[in-house]
Amino acid sequence: MPKESPGKPRILATRRMMPDVEHRMKSIFQATLNEEDRPMDRSEILERAARHDGLLVTSFDKLGPDFIQNLPASIRIIATHSVGYDHLSIPQAEARGIAVTNTPGVLTEATADIAMLLMLGAARGASWGDRMVRENRWGETTLTSPMGHDVSGQRLGILGMGRIGQAVARRARAFGMSVRYHARQQLPTDQTHGARYFKRLEDMLPDCDFLSINCASTPETRGMLNASMLSLLPTGAILVNTARGDIVEDEAVIQALKTGQLAAAGLDVFRNEPNIDPRYRQMDNVFLLPHLGSATPATRSAMGHKCIDNLEQYFRGERPTDLLTTPRETCLDLHTA
Ligand code: DGY
Repeated sequence: MPKESPGKPRILATRRMMPDVEHRMKSIFQATLNEEDRPMDRSEILERAARHDGLLVTSFDKLGPDFIQNLPASIRIIATHSVGYDHLSIPQAEARGIAVTNTPGVLTEATADIAMLLMLGAARGASWGDRMVRENRWGETTLTSPMGHDVSGQRLGILGMGRIGQAVARRARAFGMSVRYHARQQLPTDQTHGARYFKRLEDMLPDCDFLSINCASTPETRGMLNASMLSLLPTGAILVNTARGDIVEDEAVIQALKTGQLAAAGLDVFRNEPNIDPRYRQMDNVFLLPHLGSATPATRSAMGHKCIDNLEQYFRGERPTDLLTTPRETCLDLHTA
């Protein structure tokens, strides 16, 4: 535990963060940092939360309704070091008057870069090509084998056209791709980089050589890419996912990769990560990354500072910029008490 400094909010961070972020944490809060970066399970977080006013958590921490229900009364805010918040029960936090914030806007470009990497890596055989060199199998290359798939000039469908989807569309245009998107709402044209809107996902899929998943994981999108949806893609399409693993049905993706319905997939996120479906590891036509979407120093630092900004605003009695929960007077009043 840090030395008591009366008046400073006590914040428990569940994972190690960038040094500049931890430095600022220590200067403005009574911060309990996880300097050894030892993963804590839910019961340990709950136990340690008792001596704190706020939590700074990550998307690794699966904090469902039971966890939030059992949090000590001292906890008034949870700042998640992620844009996604499917690992947290927002309704339960609202029911308890606990504020929740996230980090939108600062990981857009880094995540869109990874979406392009996945498209290129899956299509052009980055993982099997890399393996061939390492295993000294270069001699097996001929003019006709192995072969990847074109990216430039192909048709890209984007599922979810928020900040990250739009940043992917912008990049894809530079590759001469023709872009279409499906989202709940059609966006103003100045946000779509020439992408064509499809109100129904079913109508867009037959028109996609590549499909990039960029929507949030919600009750509506979980399991959305199932066998019947995947069967609507043209044979040999390529799927990439930088959003959340549970938006796809693994069984359907794996079967589609086996039959050639999908030529390849590039995956940065997985259901139940890091314990992913082991069959992915055996497949040559997948390009796998360990959830690196936001993993650059500048991006992780910006995410950490956004968490701190939100915590500071909250404890000053202001509405945090990235508040996800519906504000209740009690949230803000509690601090000044
Ligand atoms: C996010 O911020 O949601 C990224 O996926 C990291 O969890």
